[in-house]
Amino acid sequence: MADKAVRYEAKDGIALITLDRPDVLNAMNNAMRTELLEIFTRLRTDDAVKAVVVTGAGERAFCAGADIREFLEPPTPTNFREARRRVDFRAEMERCPQAIIAAIRGFALGGGLEFALACDIRIAAEDAQLGLTEINLAIIPGGGGTQRLPRVVGRGKALEMILTGMRVPAAEALRIGLVERVVPVAELMSAAQALARQIADKAPIALRYAKESVVSGLGLPLADGIRLEGDLSTLLRTTEDRVEGAKAFVEKRKPKWIGR
Ligand code: COA
Repeated sequence: MADKAVRYEAKDGIALITLDRPDVLNAMNNAMRTELLEIFTRLRTDDAVKAVVVTGAGERAFCAGADIREFLEPPTPTNFREARRRVDFRAEMERCPQAIIAAIRGFALGGGLEFALACDIRIAAEDAQLGLTEINLAIIPGGGGTQRLPRVVGRGKALEMILTGMRVPAAEALRIGLVERVVPVAELMSAAQALARQIADKAPIALRYAKESVVSGLGLPLADGIRLEGDLSTLLRTTEDRVEGAKAFVEKRKPKWIGR
């Protein structure tokens, strides 16, 4: 397994994905994109995995963005576009039914923050610094950053970040809603795992429909989103787990989900 750019492990319904190039602050090269694409494509149909945690190896970074050394050779525009299309792992993340939690310590810059923004929930360690720093290299975010960041923090804050390339510290990231929680560095992984556990213990189909309703609904006009929610919540009334949930409540015991 030499020279893998990403480590993957799964246990008890929770997958852990670790960006593993700590010598270059987990900078994202093409090998890493290819491995992430394979992992998320597989996860999409892996019903045994209920929640996913992604993080960076080492103590200094979640991911310091695209590997800048790959920028030295100017590609032709079509080659660049086609190469990126072939490794579009973020599109696979959008299709993953599982909740994806980013556990961020240290730097999450450029494509690193874009990766975190493609996750569903972000937990930061107190030492985290987040930014879309592409402007410093005379480029703009190309992994969804100009679209996802304003949807998370609003137009003004997103433009402030994107046009200046500023780095936002963890406390400020929490204040502006860029991350959902900030925890001490030593507690980052246990907090992410505990959240993943809390989610993974819920009824499987309800989990998938809840994510689908929120994520797909955000791309729809409100009336269509409400219609989608209505259809998915009606479908859930037909599952055996729905009956089990009500029975367990009445019988004052923990429910046993069967996933149908
Ligand atoms: N691509 C390639 N290598 C990177 C990298 C990147 N995006 N980010 C960091 N590295 C490498 C450095 O070149 C260095 O390697 P070296 O030891 O072989 O010289 C190593 O990671 C450590 O980084 P270094 O810059 O020495 O650490 P620092 O603490 O002085 O600075 C950062 C940390 C994150 C502020 C700085 O590395 C940086 O600005 N990185 C680029 C971030 C960026 O612009 N990303 C967006 C790309 S579109």
